[in-house]
Amino acid sequence: MNKLNLCIIFGGKSAEHEVSLQSAYNIVEAVDKEKYSLTLIAMNKEGKFYLCDSLNFLENIDNPKDIKIKNTDNQIAFVPGERGSSIYSLRDNKMIDSIDVIFPIIHGPFGEDGSLQGLLKLIDVPFVGAGVVGSAVGMDKDIMKRLLRDNDIDIADFIIYRDILEADYLSAKDKLGIPMFIKPANLGSSVGISKVTNQDEFLNGLEEAFRFDGKVIVEEFIDGREIECAVKGNLKTKVTFPGEILPTDEFYSYEAKYINETGAVLKIPAELDNNIADNIKEIAKETYKLLETRGLARIDFFVTKDRILVNEINTLPGFTKISMYPKLWKNEGVEYSDLIDELIVFAIEEFDNNDKLLSTI
Ligand SMILES: Nc1ncnc2c1ncn2[C@@H]1O[C@H](COP(=O)(O)OP(=O)(O)O)[C@@H](O)[C@H]1O
Ligand SMILES: [Mg+2]
Repeated sequence: MNKLNLCIIFGGKSAEHEVSLQSAYNIVEAVDKEKYSLTLIAMNKEGKFYLCDSLNFLENIDNPKDIKIKNTDNQIAFVPGERGSSIYSLRDNKMIDSIDVIFPIIHGPFGEDGSLQGLLKLIDVPFVGAGVVGSAVGMDKDIMKRLLRDNDIDIADFIIYRDILEADYLSAKDKLGIPMFIKPANLGSSVGISKVTNQDEFLNGLEEAFRFDGKVIVEEFIDGREIECAVKGNLKTKVTFPGEILPTDEFYSYEAKYINETGAVLKIPAELDNNIADNIKEIAKETYKLLETRGLARIDFFVTKDRILVNEINTLPGFTKISMYPKLWKNEGVEYSDLIDELIVFAIEEFDNNDKLLSTI
């Protein structure tokens, strides 16, 4: 059997760089080497791409805070228009082996927001996950929420500011109540997020969020449980029973996600009545579909006594063996390596479907 040449692209310019390295490490360890040959490409924190040794590409693997890409001088460039053989080594002055499918596992801006997906579309190779539109829409909390609201999916009420001078505490408080949550519209990992209860905190929270994005979203506070579901597939989807995040901090902060090991507990499955779980699963599938998602996504909810609200979608969720997404599937009996196989099949299916479309008349 011919092996598929699987290219994994990891790292990236976001706060989730280190998580991405761990996800890549776990994927490389898990995939069936009889089925796949591997090409590893790291995006460093400056956004440059390097070809890595597929057996030895990381340093400090055992330390999640200090994990690093091993130094390599083999910078690469993407060359559109050469289907299959589209990656060029600047050091060796030649194209590298042709690639059958790409698994980009870069979280946050530049990796999960459609920019990398645009590049992969241009080089004409199947890739795992949502395309340009699904990625961009999933990343922008303002656009995502307006699409959900338009489809009668419950969300936290919100206001958008594009300039701090547009913000007025009293009218925001009037509309949203206190506390409020302030977030950069296009980010993740809880970076730049504040929970505020008075005018000073409101202005500080806005300043902080505007450091990261030119668009800021202010939301009503939802006093609810944090419930998450994993979805996979293209137009036909499957969804898991939900899990729950139990933050020990005031909210599920950057610290709780990545620094403090006791910052949050993942409870899988979540303790939920079956009819509520079924509702959540149904809304997860609907959200996935209407946000143009492909391949995989984790959909995050707030669940209160009488409401089920979608908080956000993550189109390239954390993918280490101990991340929520693979663990939710494990709970359904799907092993990590089988999950990767399936995501690759979805990638090729989606590519073939698009490939059939006419590009000229
Ligand atoms: N409107 C809200 N009400 C209550 N808690 C919130 C609200 N928005 C965010 N949070 C808390 O902040 C965390 C991060 O917010 P989220 O919107 O998921 O941003 P990110 O994309 O950075 O993960 C959530 O997991 C939750 O703990
Ligand atoms: Mg979140």
